[in-house]
Amino acid sequence: MKRVAILISGRGSNMAAILDAVRAGEIAANVIGVISNRPAAPGLALASERGVPTVAIDHMAFADRAAFERELSGAIDAFSPDLIVLAGFMRVLGADFVARYRGRMLNIHPSLLPAYPGLDTHAQALADGVKVHGCTVHFVTQDVDHGPIVAQAAVAVHDGDDEAALAARVLRAEHRILVAAVRWFCDDRLVIDGNRVRVKHELTGADTLLVPALQ
Ligand code: GAR
Repeated sequence: MKRVAILISGRGSNMAAILDAVRAGEIAANVIGVISNRPAAPGLALASERGVPTVAIDHMAFADRAAFERELSGAIDAFSPDLIVLAGFMRVLGADFVARYRGRMLNIHPSLLPAYPGLDTHAQALADGVKVHGCTVHFVTQDVDHGPIVAQAAVAVHDGDDEAALAARVLRAEHRILVAAVRWFCDDRLVIDGNRVRVKHELTGADTLLVPALQ
């Protein structure tokens, strides 16, 4: 069984989706720890309630990023994880840290990368008037919100959407692709080939999403 560590900064709904899937037997893994850079993150309490060991490492308590990341990697390595999942972890990570976990650190991002890296992705999508928005799971590399893409989900942008409505629709899709990506990793089905990721034994789905749907 693979050992999975999850890093969060806030609510922890993506983390909870992974815990639910593990509990339901959909992911063959043990979540061995949840780490947050924010001691008050609601997701930490949620993890504790589920019996998962938690660690809080307040980034504000460190003089610089390197010192914070030394502490963070110490806490991660103490769990000996096979996979590290950034599930709403809102700190930019330095080159040494990223290199240490290359090929075994996944991130969920609320846009169809390479569109809208960074913050406020839903507001940007609404401002641009796009009809399709979505989310991406990718391996973490030194370039923030880049790195080999494992899975993406596209969602429709509806006429009446505000940021909250669009974010909620994307979040439901995030939970689905993150659970799938973690499952594939834990089943040794992901093959990184340069900037592309192949999923072994992948099932093909619908090839085209039309928004608005054709009448
Ligand atoms: C999610 O929407 C995730 O994609 C985003 O933070 C949210 C965390 O929600 N992550 C990023 O923006 C990273 N660049 P959650 O705590 O409920 O999982």
